[in-house]
Amino acid sequence: QRLLLMGRIVIIGGGAIGLAIGWRLQQAGVQTVLFDRREAGRASSWLSAGMLAPDTERGFEDEALYHLGRESLRRWPSFVAALEAASGLGVDYRTGGTLHVADDRDAAEALRRHFAFQREQGLDVQWLTGAEARDMEPFLAPRLPGAVYASSDHQVDNRLLVEALITAYQKAGGTLREHTPVEAIEPGEPAAIRVDGERVEARHVIVAAGAWSRQSGGLVPNLRPPVRPIKGQMLQLKMQAPFDLQHVVWGRDAYLAPKSNGRLLVGATVEEMGFDTSVTAGGLYSILEAAWRIVPGIYDLEVTETWAGLRPGSRDNDPLLGDAGKPGVVYATGHYRNGILLAPITATLIGDWVADQRASPLLPAFSWE
Ligand code: GLY
Repeated sequence: QRLLLMGRIVIIGGGAIGLAIGWRLQQAGVQTVLFDRREAGRASSWLSAGMLAPDTERGFEDEALYHLGRESLRRWPSFVAALEAASGLGVDYRTGGTLHVADDRDAAEALRRHFAFQREQGLDVQWLTGAEARDMEPFLAPRLPGAVYASSDHQVDNRLLVEALITAYQKAGGTLREHTPVEAIEPGEPAAIRVDGERVEARHVIVAAGAWSRQSGGLVPNLRPPVRPIKGQMLQLKMQAPFDLQHVVWGRDAYLAPKSNGRLLVGATVEEMGFDTSVTAGGLYSILEAAWRIVPGIYDLEVTETWAGLRPGSRDNDPLLGDAGKPGVVYATGHYRNGILLAPITATLIGDWVADQRASPLLPAFSWE
């Protein structure tokens, strides 16, 4: 009984990150209990675009993050194969690449600079004329001045992904407690959490609550993860023939991510608004107008959903992975724009660390310190 108790791991947060860690640990024979303040998988993971796009998202200063993203992307094919087999559910994993297009001369100049940097860094990207881009995607606007094709970027249907993760996690014996906010974390050996008036002991408590990672009590203020919500407004269109889009398309101020079931996700604003999730006319207008400029054929498509999600932003946009500076508490949070992409590598790094203290050389760069 004591051994079992000591072996248990508590995970706070049932998004793609928490579920992927839980599933990995269950597969390794470690008993986990996962708590979600609401319904698992229905916060930021549900409201994302499922782009697995380290090459297109590569910013000028994101060296460590880029390599983590590439390492995660390398794991995606086997992660999907195992997940689909374990859950019996498909996740619409697609490897078509991203088209990053410019819609005027200023945008083309900025894209050229980004392209030069990407090439210098050895990324597998290709410059296309507007006409060449249009050969790949006939619904792109005519006369675009240029585009970058990042053939190594992939995508997944984020909603199918979390449904598969929930199923795989539970089939592997993981315990899921939804609508159960964790009131406090108690560091120690063993650590514990307080929830519903109950004290639950655990060998480790993994904080994977995304933008909500600071909200469980118990951690002294300067040890709470420096993660804040960064709002992204998005909308969903229904693709209908003859309209068609096969690749993820990026513009300067919007992206479009088509899924095989006809969902076309258009995003996203980047706003510092705390926990506000209101959808505004200005927010929708800005992404729709930017998306319409590069793919005018969206004009007649039906809008089937609008929302605002909250990215968990850290101070440097890198995730916080590993020990939290208090015994028994581990962070797996702050994944900002890349939570879906980074789910497999996070599950591996954190899973190996808490299961048997195997610390990957990749971990120190993402220490909360
Ligand atoms: N990775 C896309 C976004 O965060 O909007």
